[in-house]
Amino acid sequence: MGHASIAQDSLGQSLELSGPGLDGAGAYLRVADSVQEFGHMPKHQFTATAWVRIDQTTDWGGILSAVSDNGDREKGWILGYDKDSFTFGISTTGADDGDGNITYLNGSTILELQKWYMVTATFDGSSARLFVNGKLDAETTTQYGEVLYEPRTPVAIGAYIDSNEFHPMEGRIRNVYLFNEAIDADQIEAEFQRNSMIASVIPESDTPLEWTVEPFLCYATQSSVSIVCEVPTAAEVTVRFRPAMGEVREIVSETKSGIHTIEIDGLDAGQPYYYEVLAHSPSGESVKTEPLSFQTAIERGKAFTFIMIGDTQANPEVVKRVSDIAWSNRPNFVCIAGDLVTTGTNKSHWTHHFFPNMQPLISRVPLFPVLGNHEQNARHYYEYMDLPAPEYYYSFSYGDADYFVLDSEKPMGPGSEQYRWLENKLDQSDARWKFVIHHRPAYSSDENDYGNTWLGPSTLGDLDIRQAVPLYEKYGVDIVFNGHIHAYERSFPIRDGEAVEQNGVVYMTIGGGGGGLENFAPFNPWFSSKKTSVHHLCRVEIVGGTLRMQSIDEYGKLFDTYEIRKEHNP
Ligand SMILES: [Fe+2]
Ligand SMILES: [Fe+2]
Repeated sequence: MGHASIAQDSLGQSLELSGPGLDGAGAYLRVADSVQEFGHMPKHQFTATAWVRIDQTTDWGGILSAVSDNGDREKGWILGYDKDSFTFGISTTGADDGDGNITYLNGSTILELQKWYMVTATFDGSSARLFVNGKLDAETTTQYGEVLYEPRTPVAIGAYIDSNEFHPMEGRIRNVYLFNEAIDADQIEAEFQRNSMIASVIPESDTPLEWTVEPFLCYATQSSVSIVCEVPTAAEVTVRFRPAMGEVREIVSETKSGIHTIEIDGLDAGQPYYYEVLAHSPSGESVKTEPLSFQTAIERGKAFTFIMIGDTQANPEVVKRVSDIAWSNRPNFVCIAGDLVTTGTNKSHWTHHFFPNMQPLISRVPLFPVLGNHEQNARHYYEYMDLPAPEYYYSFSYGDADYFVLDSEKPMGPGSEQYRWLENKLDQSDARWKFVIHHRPAYSSDENDYGNTWLGPSTLGDLDIRQAVPLYEKYGVDIVFNGHIHAYERSFPIRDGEAVEQNGVVYMTIGGGGGGLENFAPFNPWFSSKKTSVHHLCRVEIVGGTLRMQSIDEYGKLFDTYEIRKEHNP
């Protein structure tokens, strides 16, 4: 569905048509359902004229039409545009080949987008003419006699429409007239001069409405998802969405400017949905996404794939490569294990580094974020992300897995709010797979973050975080994902401070999403199974009791795999 509204400029009002929407249809004005119903379409001569501002070129765009062009059956007339020129098509008795024959005139004026033009078509019984801004732009004498009409053809403003074709215009229209006579060139020129100030209305393309942050998906459940976007000015933001088969629904953001968060609920589990987001400013500017899609979380018992990335920070080229590889995998969701940006309090790091480079991934795949030290607990994180309270920690379920997200900048040890919450949640979890995600590592072979390993002792990981390890082991957490160290490391399964063959917790450092790479100790700590200092992402698939993990570098090369099999339900 397209969108029609009244736009305001310095010279008054015009009708704004926003073009094709989610369902492929565009808005237009249906003057009459048929030429017959209209009753007095001119036959011998006429003038059709309008002021138009085209915002998007198209083939066969219609401005004023009473046309029918179905195979060889060509009747009526159309004032329109085709790519970068205006057009006038007309079918008359003089050129009739038995079932009508349209001649299309293509104007010589190059149509510039967002510029106002007066376009005029005349037919005087012996010639058809197209005028642009009062000047003759094309002419033919091929058509003469009376205009031929198909009686059932609709009469429309802002579209080329017949029984099997629909080409809506995208732009603005004003001063539309249809006269029963062919106005002569001098009068048309005079009419243009009388209104010529319209042609000099400054195009608003100098400051068009643009997304500050393009719409993205944050957090998804089996029945809901949040869509977040940001616009630079006051605007009404609307989300339209529909299932693969079914009605389009619409939600208008309650916010009036800045960051908009729109929660959609009442959805079905595991289903694809199609959506688009539109923003309209009070001054008549608008911006719209392409038709997008999302998928709700799947139910227990169903297979799925997710992507883990960490430490995207300020390295746009790497981040874009990593997020594009993630997107090419078509995962069910993506989780970023902290340090999404380098300086959380710097808004431009969000608007210029993080969000643009995560597209198109996060407009299609829900993002589950995690707080890192570089977020600085800044309000921007909380404003952009829409997570269950208190947001700095939260949990979610996906298929047979439960995920527990913690803020490793806040206490995680016994007695802390997060520890108590986690213990309670883990105890209640009936999921076959359990994952914990926080930014700082419990175990790490990093060369210098926990002591200079080239010269002396190191704690080989964050001792504050390690206080939570007994919980992970007690409640059978399968994998703990962390970032912070800008490299890749997979531990052996660990239990009671030892590497074990099975029934241990695996610790994954996946901090290679973009930040400058770090390196490892000169020796091999007891827990470390695989270490690689490359930019990367981690892909995890779960089907029943089998988990397969693939770690992929920024160029798509597989460099590590891992598998966990569970014989029985927990
Ligand atoms: Fe980092
Ligand atoms: Fe960090």
